[in-house]
Amino acid sequence: MARAIARDHGGNVVLVARRKERLEALCEELRTRHGVQAASIVADLSRPEDVERVFAEATRERVLHGAILNAGVTYWGEAMKLDWDAFQALLNTNVTSMVRLSSLLLPHLIEQAGGARGGAAGLMLISSVAAFIPVPYQAAYSGTKAFILSYGQALAQELRHTGVSVTVFAPGGITTELLENSGLSRRFKAGDLGMMTAAQCATHAVRAFVQRKELSVPGLLNQTLALASRLLPRGLLAQRTAAMYRPGH
Ligand SMILES: NC(=O)c1ccc[n+]([C@@H]2O[C@H](COP(=O)([O-])OP(=O)(O)OC[C@H]3O[C@@H](n4cnc5c(N)ncnc54)[C@H](OP(=O)(O)O)[C@@H]3O)[C@@H](O)[C@H]2O)c1
Repeated sequence: MARAIARDHGGNVVLVARRKERLEALCEELRTRHGVQAASIVADLSRPEDVERVFAEATRERVLHGAILNAGVTYWGEAMKLDWDAFQALLNTNVTSMVRLSSLLLPHLIEQAGGARGGAAGLMLISSVAAFIPVPYQAAYSGTKAFILSYGQALAQELRHTGVSVTVFAPGGITTELLENSGLSRRFKAGDLGMMTAAQCATHAVRAFVQRKELSVPGLLNQTLALASRLLPRGLLAQRTAAMYRPGH
């Protein structure tokens, strides 16, 4: 998404993640290839103190016009076997940091959007198709993504007259490290029906953000799944999904 913002919109970016070398390499790439300003903040968003620091550093002597809260982790396996510390880290990363950062960022974004300048600002929260359907063997993850969907869509209404858009982006399978780290890459592979590359998905996401969409689901298969979740019983969908996600077969 940082690449798409710099390449397609000439946007300056502040990037946040845990791995310093990767952040710095990407910043350098964006500066040389696209001539934008790029800064990085190394932080672990599962740690509340890091979340506070990210906001302080990102807004120190700098004005933000948009924020994309994308960091997320998953666990694939039986919910009762999810280690408690790992669950806390998942919840902190996917939910708590997102709510805290949203609460800290929104007054800043409202200020940029409002007043005499009459500008606009935006917040985008990254959810998942797993928000629409209970996903057995990704129970905690799909729960966090359902939270984000509900929270983000509610927030969009609360902020309607502020000039700040809230976009919830809910992709399906993307071939990224998230699948590698969870083992899901053994089940879902590049080229499978509906799977996207990170670059494809990022293009959709940034377009939705710029167009200030309230909810965006990229790709026909994912849109069909989102629609099915409104038409079919959730229990039936969960049963079908269980067969796809059950580990060890
Ligand atoms: N891949 C999929 O199939 C899929 C489908 C639907 C939705 N999504 C959602 O898309 C978002 C991005 O996922 P992805 O697939 O691109 O995963 P990814 O390749 O693992 O990337 C996750 C990004 O978040 C950062 N991150 C993870 N934990 C962090 C932490 N505790 N503190 C700070 N940064 C952290 C990672 O950098 P560091 O590791 O360096 O910190 C990385 O930049 C997530 O919210 C995910 O739920 C993914």
